[in-house]
Amino acid sequence: MEQNFPARLGVVGAGAMGAGIAEVAAACGIPVTLLDARQNAATAAIDAILGRACKRHAAGKLEQAQLDRLASALSPAEDLSDLAACDLVIEAIVEDLDAKRGLFAQLEDIVAPDALLATNTSSLPIGVVGAALHHPERFAGLHFFNPVPLMKLVEVIPGPATAAATMDRLNAFSLYIGKEPVIVRDTPGFLVNLGGRAFATEALATLQENVATPAQIDAIMRDCCSFRMGPFELMDLTGMDVNFTVSQFLHQSHFADPRLRSTPLHRYMLETGQLGRKAGRGFYSYAEGAAAPSADARTDAAPATQVGLAENLPELAEFAAGLGVEVLAQDDGRAPLLAFPLGEDVTAHALRLGLDPRRVVAVDLAFDTTRRVTLMTAPNGDAGLRDSVAAAVIASGRAVTAIADSTGFVAQRIVAMVANLGCEMAQMGLAAPRDIDKAMRLGLNYPLGPLEWAERLGASRLLSILRQMQALSGDDRYRPSPWLRRRAELGLDSWAA
Ligand SMILES: NC(=O)c1ccc[n+]([C@@H]2O[C@H](COP(=O)([O-])OP(=O)(O)OC[C@H]3O[C@@H](n4cnc5c(N)ncnc54)[C@H](O)[C@@H]3O)[C@@H](O)[C@H]2O)c1
Repeated sequence: MEQNFPARLGVVGAGAMGAGIAEVAAACGIPVTLLDARQNAATAAIDAILGRACKRHAAGKLEQAQLDRLASALSPAEDLSDLAACDLVIEAIVEDLDAKRGLFAQLEDIVAPDALLATNTSSLPIGVVGAALHHPERFAGLHFFNPVPLMKLVEVIPGPATAAATMDRLNAFSLYIGKEPVIVRDTPGFLVNLGGRAFATEALATLQENVATPAQIDAIMRDCCSFRMGPFELMDLTGMDVNFTVSQFLHQSHFADPRLRSTPLHRYMLETGQLGRKAGRGFYSYAEGAAAPSADARTDAAPATQVGLAENLPELAEFAAGLGVEVLAQDDGRAPLLAFPLGEDVTAHALRLGLDPRRVVAVDLAFDTTRRVTLMTAPNGDAGLRDSVAAAVIASGRAVTAIADSTGFVAQRIVAMVANLGCEMAQMGLAAPRDIDKAMRLGLNYPLGPLEWAERLGASRLLSILRQMQALSGDDRYRPSPWLRRRAELGLDSWAA
């Protein structure tokens, strides 16, 4: 690793991102010159960094030597010409193509011929930002995540003319400042912003179909799939102004690929000012005293004591055993029939198996059921039978979420879409397969990367979930990625290949 590069780092833009990049590099002892167009913004950003560091020092969390190193490494600049000695300049100014191009045109004339230039843009193509440069070989994207000191990931993105040596040096620099670089192709949304679409948009599609409420969908994704936040909590946190805009940008940039399509409600939330936490109201209310909506089914029904199994599946038998109910060897024509559809809704599943749809209570056993169990019934399903199963599940110490009939329940459809989009990113060669997983875990705090989800579910199971959802909905949104289909059909289990 190149320990002496950069000898001096320049950061232009002292907002959230620029200040974060400056702080992280300075903490590693790299001298940093920070510049902002707003008067005193760079000095104020440095004061804020040092103020926080002093508090950490006072709390015994930062050594005096580390504080001194940070203080001596950071200096504000007044003018672009103050960056002349920098051998790497990272731009983190306003997200505007003309502003960024104008800045780099000036910078090219100021820095040394072998200095590197990088942009932290989150949405502009790297090749387009650098198109007018005289020396595009020394230019690339260096996409940090917010907040920079906490987020480990950096996407390193070459433009069409970026030299391999530039990529190597930016990679080494990222490692030196304690980040995990992932090399990503120059595609709209790069890797993480593109890959992160499926989680929210499939949740929105599920809500649009009236399958479940935001609180139910969030609870399922947290408790059954270990996401730290459900999709609606996450959208409320990032704000509709950000996540609707990014979703629409990516849908348009990918020529209206139905996989990336959002819903009218998403736009409506933005246009009615229901932006999320920052507005006090989004999918949830943040008003004082607002009660959190429950995701849990409640019932006074007597717990079921006998069930039939719609299919001879080990998962179903194990689930029934966990409820302590008797599994009928012969159908008595009355007991609930437990079923485990993959990608199918209860209606299609029951009719295909020749079962009475009214008695079928479907259970999603594709994910963790130790905390919460999702139950699903057909439109003509017997609510009393469902409630008796719910009561048995509740008596076993777990929460129940009862949803309306849907292809793929809630978790199957959201995880299948996350995994399928990851497979498509692998097909497009956006990054090495293992790097796709690493980037999605580090950039979005996902419990597993998309290809790891595919492995967890099993490639052939994932493929059949997607095929069922595509066939039953008639929507190419669910079309399986060829990357997945080939590996599933060939029985390959090495996803890193
Ligand atoms: N905020 C995020 O979550 C995030 C994450 C990744 C990437 N990005 C990208 O990083 C860049 C900066 O984002 P941010 O959130 O820090 O924005 P910000 O608004 O917090 O900061 C931008 C700063 O740039 C300054 N500025 C604007 N034009 C300038 C110019 N011509 N020269 C010098 N300074 C100028 C502004 O005064 C401001 O202080 C954008 O390209 C953004 O898309 C943001």
